[in-house]
Amino acid sequence: MSSLAMNSLLATLAVAVLALFPIAAVGAGLKVGFYSKTCPSAETLVQQAVAASFKNNGGVAAGLIRLHFHDCFVKGCDGSVLIDSTANNTAEKDAIPNNPSLRGFEVIDAAKKAIEAKCPKIVSCADILAFAARDSIALAGNVTYKVPAGRRDGRISSDQNALNNLPSPLSTASELVGNFTLKNLTAEDMVVLSGAHTIGVSRCSSFTNRLYGFSNTSQVDPTMSSAYAFLLKNICPANSSQFFPNTTMDMDIITPAVLDNKYYVSLINNLGLFTSDQALLTNSTLKASVDEFVKNENRWKSKFVKSMVKMGNIEVLTGTQGEIRLNCRVINKGSTGLEFNSGINSGEFTEIATS
Ligand code: HEM
Ligand SMILES: *[C@@H]1O[C@H](CO)[C@@H](O)[C@H](O)[C@H]1NC(C)=O
Ligand SMILES: *[C@@H]1O[C@H](CO)[C@@H](O)[C@H](O)[C@H]1NC(C)=O
Ligand SMILES: *[C@@H]1O[C@H](CO)[C@@H](O)[C@H](O)[C@H]1NC(C)=O
Ligand SMILES: *[C@@H]1O[C@H](CO)[C@@H](O)[C@H](O)[C@H]1NC(C)=O
Ligand SMILES: *[C@@H]1O[C@H](CO)[C@@H](O)[C@H](O)[C@H]1NC(C)=O
Ligand SMILES: *[C@@H]1O[C@H](CO)[C@@H](O)[C@H](O)[C@H]1NC(C)=O
Ligand SMILES: *[C@@H]1O[C@H](CO)[C@@H](O)[C@H](O)[C@H]1NC(C)=O
Ligand SMILES: *[C@@H]1O[C@H](CO)[C@@H](O)[C@H](O)[C@H]1NC(C)=O
Repeated sequence: MSSLAMNSLLATLAVAVLALFPIAAVGAGLKVGFYSKTCPSAETLVQQAVAASFKNNGGVAAGLIRLHFHDCFVKGCDGSVLIDSTANNTAEKDAIPNNPSLRGFEVIDAAKKAIEAKCPKIVSCADILAFAARDSIALAGNVTYKVPAGRRDGRISSDQNALNNLPSPLSTASELVGNFTLKNLTAEDMVVLSGAHTIGVSRCSSFTNRLYGFSNTSQVDPTMSSAYAFLLKNICPANSSQFFPNTTMDMDIITPAVLDNKYYVSLINNLGLFTSDQALLTNSTLKASVDEFVKNENRWKSKFVKSMVKMGNIEVLTGTQGEIRLNCRVINKGSTGLEFNSGINSGEFTEIATS
């Protein structure tokens, strides 16, 4: 083929590909390196804040990953989970699935403070959270990925929205698949992302349903290892949640602080913690993914970071939508959301996202 014919063939293919994947479908307008001109140190400053905090308390990695998940599942990844309640509004963070279990807010505050000092009113809290989750994954799991950015911050945060959108640890497989499908995530994404339970802790109240009065015929969930149930009952005596709501249990008893595939290894050894974890074994399609990740940790890691990027695209605000919050805990006063740099005049939206 002549090079001219080759070029025109390539051009035709390019047009066809662009027609098939309009901008909205390839990352909702988010872009890797979004702040490279407007705030080049943004991602480094977030990384430094996360690393400093992680050194004192490795648990913040789990906290930040979960914060990003709980942000994205409730009104999209718009930083709404970071907003504090006010006299007139009970915010997402104070809903039962979030309070008192969410952690890592002070790390986002520290990163935001460092960034505002360098480049005020440019970097959204939603993006800081997405970067912080990525940095947490790198610290706990030695795996990294590029985070498309350009999210804007939302101005609405309500506890009811959190209750309506966060999946319950009592869920069955079909409920979980349904809950993730509502966010345009696949059944495989659900299995892949559940692997985040390879780090972090849980309160007793999230799993005592499997230990006490499980069914008419059995106190303990028979699918749980009886030795494991014995251990859990020691840490979480019946009805103790009421008096000791802050008692926690590592979610991965093999390597509690390492982001690896041991979550899946535990699952197939009857050491899963929640009903929703155990549920991944109850459907042959989901179980096949579990088995794949037991056998091949690198495959899980590469799928995990891809699913994290996908999760980070849920219903994002871009362009002139929303605002760039000045304090991640407080909606800007009297803001229309339009007065801060939206990136539109800095050429940020002239390129088509490629991720
Ligand atoms: C599949 C549905 C999911 C359910 C039902 C679920 C439920 C839970 C529950 C109940 C806890 C413990 C909270 C407590 O009692 O202290 C927890 C912790 C955690 N979850 Fe999930 N989760 C799900 C998916 C995810 C996803 C998609 C991610 C992130 C990608 C994630 C990351 C985490 C992390 C890292 C922790 C530990 C947090 C910490 O130590 O501070 N979870 N999850
Ligand atoms: C709460 O609502 C009252 C009455 O509607 C209003 O006067 C007050 O400014 C509101 N406070 C906040 C913090 O929004
Ligand atoms: C981290 O990952 C890199 C590249 O995949 C690898 O070469 C290195 O040995 C890993 N380090 C640790 C501590 O696992
Ligand atoms: C999850 O799915 C179940 C079953 O479809 C549904 O009852 C529940 O409301 C859903 N929860 C969320 C948070 O979407
Ligand atoms: C899922 O995709 C549909 C079709 O592209 C879109 O209309 C909807 O807003 C998306 N939902 C979420 C939660 O991203
Ligand atoms: C369990 O008990 C309830 C209420 O007593 C009864 O309706 C149900 O049929 C029982 N289930 C089984 C599996 O025996
Ligand atoms: C826990 O509380 C329930 C209901 O209040 C009660 O029926 C049960 O006996 C209590 N269990 C223990 C071990 O105290
Ligand atoms: C549990 O932790 C929360 C948040 O740190 C705290 O406000 C509460 O007092 C603690 N509850 C108990 C009973 O220790
Ligand atoms: C298992 O889950 C997959 C993915 O959601 C679904 O398509 C399939 O119907 C489920 N299989 C069974 C037996 O429930």
